[in-house]
Amino acid sequence: MLIKRTHGWELPERQATSESTYLARRTLVKAMGLGALAAGVPGLALAEDPSAKLYPAKKNDTYGMPTPMTAEKLATTYNNFYEFDDGKNLWRLAQKLPVRPWTVKVSGMVEKPFEIDIDSLLAKMPLEERVYRHRCVETWSMIVPWSGFAMKSLVEFCKPASGAKYVVMTTLSNPSVMPGQKDVIYPWPYVEGLAMDEAMNDLTFIATGLYGKPMPKQNGAPLRLVAPWKYGFKNVKSIVSIAFTDKRPVSFWEKLNDNEYGFWANVNPQVPHPRWSQATEKPLGSSDRIPTQIYNGYGEFVAGLYEGRKAEKLFM
Ligand code: MTE
Repeated sequence: MLIKRTHGWELPERQATSESTYLARRTLVKAMGLGALAAGVPGLALAEDPSAKLYPAKKNDTYGMPTPMTAEKLATTYNNFYEFDDGKNLWRLAQKLPVRPWTVKVSGMVEKPFEIDIDSLLAKMPLEERVYRHRCVETWSMIVPWSGFAMKSLVEFCKPASGAKYVVMTTLSNPSVMPGQKDVIYPWPYVEGLAMDEAMNDLTFIATGLYGKPMPKQNGAPLRLVAPWKYGFKNVKSIVSIAFTDKRPVSFWEKLNDNEYGFWANVNPQVPHPRWSQATEKPLGSSDRIPTQIYNGYGEFVAGLYEGRKAEKLFM
């Protein structure tokens, strides 16, 4: 995010999948039981993914059905995943990420620390699909259908102690497959955190799938955070550790530059980034800019979280 690059998202509108096309394809795929073969996206050999049969999950439209849906091809080929590269075109490189076996370690202020493999976790969690807006701090945005489960279900499963105030999530460390982790400029591993009440908010989601299929590696397989009212960098990918603590963690970008990337990082069009305006955004695949909304349009669900936190730097 610190480096100015050519904007790969400036692609013609015709490359976008309309929502009706996506929905029609989704219905057909489900009817045929061919989720694993229906990729049509770069990279992932979905047929090999043991969780493929879990998708598409049942839709939950409680938090809205924003439109227009971003083309699957754009959302899976224009990515931020600095462990692989600091550019956007990293989806090929990301195919090296080994996503099975995959273990998530739960530690810190919990009743009892434990480890669980991703497929056992998936079997325990109530999977659903939610269509959310995503707003990157760099000012591009997208609307995509995530599959996964409410983070609240995961927190409850972890049985945190009553004194726990924050949840800290960490990405896999594996410089042999993630060449970006050899770059000593960055404070690896990628760490992000939420306050407990944010993690327990109904909107907060752990995504394990995208477009009705298992999560593509470049989008953070096999599990990543989705907190859609915050700037995209909060949405830590490929999580291997979930720790509960009473101390506020310092997240990856905050460590690098706390003047530009804070802990709360809630979307607000009226609070500019020190180097650019946040007033508007460019949806992937569109040539037009559109106004950015406070809390990325999710204020009705989350504004209350910040009533008692007005003294904090909530929007950066
Ligand atoms: N997680 C890790 N581990 N590494 C990253 O570089 N980038 C963040 C976030 N999560 C990032 C990450 C940023 S800046 C954004 S905008 C989103 O992932 C992008 O998610 P996407 O590639 O699925 O669109």
